[in-house]
Amino acid sequence: MAGIYIHIPFCKSRCTYCNFYSTTNLSLLDELVNAICKEMCTQMPYIVNETIETIYFGGGTPSLLKEKHFIALFEQLSKLYNISNKAEITLEANPDDLSIDYIQLLKRFPFNRISIGIQSFINKELKLINRRHSAIQALEAVSLCQQHGFENISVDLIYGYPSQLTNNLSTSIDKLLSIRPKHISAYLLSYEKSTALYQQLIRHEISEINEETAREMYKMLHNKLTKAGYIAYEISNFALPGFESKHNSAYWAGKHYLGLGPAAHSYNGSTRKWNVSNLNTYLNGIKHNTEIATLETLTEKEKYNEYLLTALRTNQGISIEFLVQHFGQERMQLLKNQSLRYINNGLLAVSGNSLRLTLDGFLISDNIIADLMWID
Ligand SMILES: C[S@@+](CC[C@H](N)C(=O)[O-])C[C@H]1O[C@@H](n2cnc3c(N)ncnc32)[C@H](O)[C@@H]1O
Ligand code: SF4
Repeated sequence: MAGIYIHIPFCKSRCTYCNFYSTTNLSLLDELVNAICKEMCTQMPYIVNETIETIYFGGGTPSLLKEKHFIALFEQLSKLYNISNKAEITLEANPDDLSIDYIQLLKRFPFNRISIGIQSFINKELKLINRRHSAIQALEAVSLCQQHGFENISVDLIYGYPSQLTNNLSTSIDKLLSIRPKHISAYLLSYEKSTALYQQLIRHEISEINEETAREMYKMLHNKLTKAGYIAYEISNFALPGFESKHNSAYWAGKHYLGLGPAAHSYNGSTRKWNVSNLNTYLNGIKHNTEIATLETLTEKEKYNEYLLTALRTNQGISIEFLVQHFGQERMQLLKNQSLRYINNGLLAVSGNSLRLTLDGFLISDNIIADLMWID
């Protein structure tokens, strides 16, 4: 069982907070799709003989792809890979691309999940981060997708905008709940060094919310969503029962995936690799069959820390059985000893055969996870 991730590194404009790799020069879209089709072929051995359970078109902005691109990509995928007929196939989409015509076009392809980046339902916040859509446009996009038969819709929300009040977030959450998407990803705004937002921060044009407000916001988010029937199955991800993202859950469970396109990451159990984050270098490499990826063989320590980091962010937590099986009794005992003080003060909990963060633990998860990591 494996997943395929396809990175479409184009955006019509850049949002001020984002450091995902993309360019606003859209002229090389056709070339990119051809290159990805070729990469699908050359990378087959990376996940040889695996059934593909999930395919995720992410970006950048995959909703910039046109009919001819989808035809080429799906033809090549089905020719080269053994794709399960129950595969979850997601397209990440921006609200301003989701016209009736575009949604009808998507319906002609095997997409069964749409992930829409809405980020906020307050126009002032959307303007601040340079989004291309308004709150109303976003609501309309979701409702159009629902009307045209897309049941499994996910919405991305960001909270913790500069000077944001808990009330503003509350308004956005209530609007979000009024459309009841099957899945919600809600991320605390992070200030990434290479972004315009970070520059505004260091010029003191905007100010960060404090840690206490961020915690209050997360608690409110968690309360409102769980009360409305969503399961907090990962620290930033909430789903109505049965609509947990299979693709992301596979990442967190350490399953294998192949990433295609510039900046895409791959993992096959023994190595991890990441493609170059530059469109021209990527296209040239694919054209001339030269290396476009950096490959790394994971050490035991790295595998352990990665497992800890991802598993502790989920509601399943760390499986003691998995830990013993993969890292040995001694490592498990060490973790148990390290965890005791967190268990005693209610930040970690043991349930059955697993160790997981409580809600209070989620609020300071970075500190706890860092403390539990394997550092020689
Ligand atoms: C690849 S990005 C964008 C997908 C799509 N192009 C869009 O704009 O809606 C996926 C999600 O990551 C989140 N994200 C990106 N940068 C972030 C940041 N600096 N802080 C918090 N969330 C971020 C946003 O919610 C975004 O929708
Ligand atoms: S958030 Fe989405 S649309 Fe905005 S710059 Fe990042 S990838 Fe592009």
